[in-house]
Amino acid sequence: MSNTRITLAGIGCGARTRTYMKLAMERPDRFQITAAADIVPVRAEQVRDYAPENERAGVRLFSSAAELLAQPKMADVAIIGTQDDYHFEPCKKALELGYDVLLEKPIAKTLREALELRDLAAKLGRRVAICHVLRYTPFYNAIRNVIQSGELGEIITFNANEGVGAWHFGHSFVRGHWGSSIASTPMIVAKCCHDMDILYWLMGRKCENVASFGELSFFRKETLREPRPVRCVDWTTPVGEDPWDARKYISDESCRRWLRMVMDGAETATEEEITEWLRTSKWGRDAFQCEDNDQPDHQVAIMRFMGGLTGTFTMTAFEEGRHIEIYGTKAKLRAGAFYKDNGPGEITVTEHFSKTIRKVEVEEPDGGYAGHGGGDWGLVDSLYDDMRTVPDADAMTTSIAASAHSHVIAFAIEHARRTGEVIDLAEFERKVLSGELNY
Ligand SMILES: NC(=O)c1ccc[n+]([C@@H]2O[C@H](COP(=O)([O-])OP(=O)(O)OC[C@H]3O[C@@H](n4cnc5c(N)ncnc54)[C@H](O)[C@@H]3O)[C@@H](O)[C@H]2O)c1
Repeated sequence: MSNTRITLAGIGCGARTRTYMKLAMERPDRFQITAAADIVPVRAEQVRDYAPENERAGVRLFSSAAELLAQPKMADVAIIGTQDDYHFEPCKKALELGYDVLLEKPIAKTLREALELRDLAAKLGRRVAICHVLRYTPFYNAIRNVIQSGELGEIITFNANEGVGAWHFGHSFVRGHWGSSIASTPMIVAKCCHDMDILYWLMGRKCENVASFGELSFFRKETLREPRPVRCVDWTTPVGEDPWDARKYISDESCRRWLRMVMDGAETATEEEITEWLRTSKWGRDAFQCEDNDQPDHQVAIMRFMGGLTGTFTMTAFEEGRHIEIYGTKAKLRAGAFYKDNGPGEITVTEHFSKTIRKVEVEEPDGGYAGHGGGDWGLVDSLYDDMRTVPDADAMTTSIAASAHSHVIAFAIEHARRTGEVIDLAEFERKVLSGELNY
């Protein structure tokens, strides 16, 4: 890398890439935007406009990933934020052109492609960081510090819970980008590869076996008592009577926040413009009549890690925020949104015999808690060191090699859910690589 700053090319300038680019431009001493590509021109232009005024003219814009990647390398790092089904091709091409990559999760739509990218990055000696934002949060770093300090003794077992949140689930995993596992990836991969990654990172050892159950129980036509129009804007009932009423994108500020991630110009759109958009957009559909949604709204997994450490994991639409209990031979740790709201505190350690409870301090992140509990900011803040300062790819905060194991866990859990079998992960990975299993 020549420049003292790291130069960035944005590929797929949707919500995620724009977030990272905007944060990167808060550190203009460290980062410079040199190129942006999106099939929707206004999104690439938005990325260009994050650059300082005197550098905007130098940002090259492209109308697709393929067009940008047909040029010789024009940045140190490619930020790839296209949708789940289009990570593999641009990432492979970027690696071949000599880019290091910041790649959105999941690594790829299939496990086989994810493992291929892992191996290609290793072969070419490129750095690929995966956007597992939780690894960069003060919250999970505080938990990891407790585990590594030995305060809990030897870790024996844990329970982890990912509450997606009722509106978030409807927005993203019923109506939205990830409602169809066919078009995107299975729920346990699309959303919970973050959880698999953070559990692997916290436990500090590989997972060996998994089993799982889970279903789509609620967001189905069968849940409705009476027929009603498919488009919420055609309903005559009072707005919000149905909690997932899409008209709340207009009337309710906490719901409207989600609109900005999917509707171009949402910040300044009038009520009439949003209503028109809801008439044709997939976010305007009744959450119970989407037809193409198949993601489970609840799923449980049981996991066995090396050395016999066990854990349970629950994903549900009907809880808000993550929480975790980790049980060691000396003490237990309880942490997360539930404990923050209901006591004894966001992260606490209770010693088994004295029953003393220690509250663990969680540092307020520099960029505040906005954006994945400070993880978005933490990720961009670490990007410079990960790409430039640390000695090799293994020393990065999130390497593709580490993330690939999280993906093996997640895809194996999906296989367990579909088949009802207990899965041996080494065997599963071998079968996927040989083509015996199609994941
Ligand atoms: N790390 C996280 O916490 C997190 C959170 C949300 C989403 N994600 C992941 O980030 C990725 C992007 O999500 P998003 O919400 O930003 O989606 P998005 O739909 O807002 O962004 C994707 C962008 O890619 C563009 N695009 C599509 N085809 C293209 C092509 N051929 N060339 C160039 N651009 C193209 C689209 O126009 C769009 O602007 C997804 O894989 C998603 O799973 C990660």
